[in-house]
Amino acid sequence: MHTVAVPDKHDPAPGLARLVAAGPVVRMRVPVIGEIPFVTTHAGCERLLKDDTLFSTDIANGRNRRIAWFLRLMPRNVRVMTENMLQKDGHEHRRLRKMVDGAFRRGAVEAWELRIEAIAAGLLDDWATSEDGDFVRHVARPLPLAVICEILGLAHEDRPDFVRWMAAFSQGGSIWRLPGIYWSLTRINRYLMARFEERRADPGDDLISVLVHAADGEDRLTDDDVLAMLGLLFIAGHETTTHLMSNSVLTLLKNPAELSRLLADPALEGTAVDELLRYVGAVEMTKPRYLLRDAEFLGVPFRRGQAVMAHLAAANRDPAVFDDPDRLDLGRRPNRHLAFGGGPHFCLGAWLAKAELAAILRLLWRHAPDLALGVPEGELQWNAQAGIRALHTLPLTRSRHAGI
Ligand code: HEM
Repeated sequence: MHTVAVPDKHDPAPGLARLVAAGPVVRMRVPVIGEIPFVTTHAGCERLLKDDTLFSTDIANGRNRRIAWFLRLMPRNVRVMTENMLQKDGHEHRRLRKMVDGAFRRGAVEAWELRIEAIAAGLLDDWATSEDGDFVRHVARPLPLAVICEILGLAHEDRPDFVRWMAAFSQGGSIWRLPGIYWSLTRINRYLMARFEERRADPGDDLISVLVHAADGEDRLTDDDVLAMLGLLFIAGHETTTHLMSNSVLTLLKNPAELSRLLADPALEGTAVDELLRYVGAVEMTKPRYLLRDAEFLGVPFRRGQAVMAHLAAANRDPAVFDDPDRLDLGRRPNRHLAFGGGPHFCLGAWLAKAELAAILRLLWRHAPDLALGVPEGELQWNAQAGIRALHTLPLTRSRHAGI
């Protein structure tokens, strides 16, 4: 198994190609976890994510004592949030997922489309009149949060608090951030518990009401289950969509021929969204999978409890599946990208994320037909954090003459 360098954030294509070529399994160093095996080919990632007889997402099955110890040290109200369905296997995972699946199916999301467009249009107005023109700050960050708050039925006037609390999660994975994260989680917990009480007494048609009343025979979700679920929705559904949107806008500005193709033919919207997810989907890797027994996988011997991760960004550039994988082709079909993972933990919010990006593609160039980057591309700053490809800011101007 080769040890391979982490791809460069500014220009990941050569690094991703190296990962695929050195695959199907390579070693790479990631913060907190250390050096860990990654599956980098499309076929290998699909097998890893689908095989829940050999792999578990539950940290309790892992050998990494450092992480298990660290989780045990966390205060209860933080630990509750980490015990969500992404960390559960088999029956327990299916039990939790079943309770929330309906709200995120394609049909349910389609019913939200007009509302998503209206929220996006309002945010684009704010962006258009802002001084800094930062698309991340004015549109890409608030949009996913506003949409989740709306689905949960949280009051409009509470949103600024949420924006403030969630900001603690957007600032990288350093240990020095932990007190801030703890403070924010405590406030989010307290706020949500109060909403549970309200919706128990007076249910509405929002997702919190559905979850606090959810029952399957005798089975009910506990407050801890609902808290963990909502924590996961906020964390899994926020940054991921923010950075998909800003990465996509930058990519389109850098590929003017493809952008013109899309603007001339709005019917390309569906394939364009999938191609942008493949090409610049912000989630580069999955959570670790832990082996449930000693076994050989993809020709490599593994020990029980060892962690393996799927490198989705590499798999999405695998030439065995995608012709000319480094070319952006907004009409690409078929497009079996793995941006949303695969198997039992396939992203719950896939349709919602797609609807949000589609709304931006539909509206942004209507607001600003001459949209341009507001700074030279070399001045854009990418985050250093492993696993997510994220721009700190994306200054845009409405006129090419004012931009670079
Ligand atoms: C571009 C946006 C998004 C991307 C690229 C993305 C990607 C992913 C990936 C790769 C996974 C699987 C992780 C693993 O197997 O370790 C996942 C799971 C999940 N995602 Fe997303 N996600 C996005 C948006 C959302 C949104 C908007 C929501 C909800 C509001 C959401 C909710 C979830 C949940 C709940 C899971 C866990 C599902 C389970 O364990 O069954 N995601 N996502």
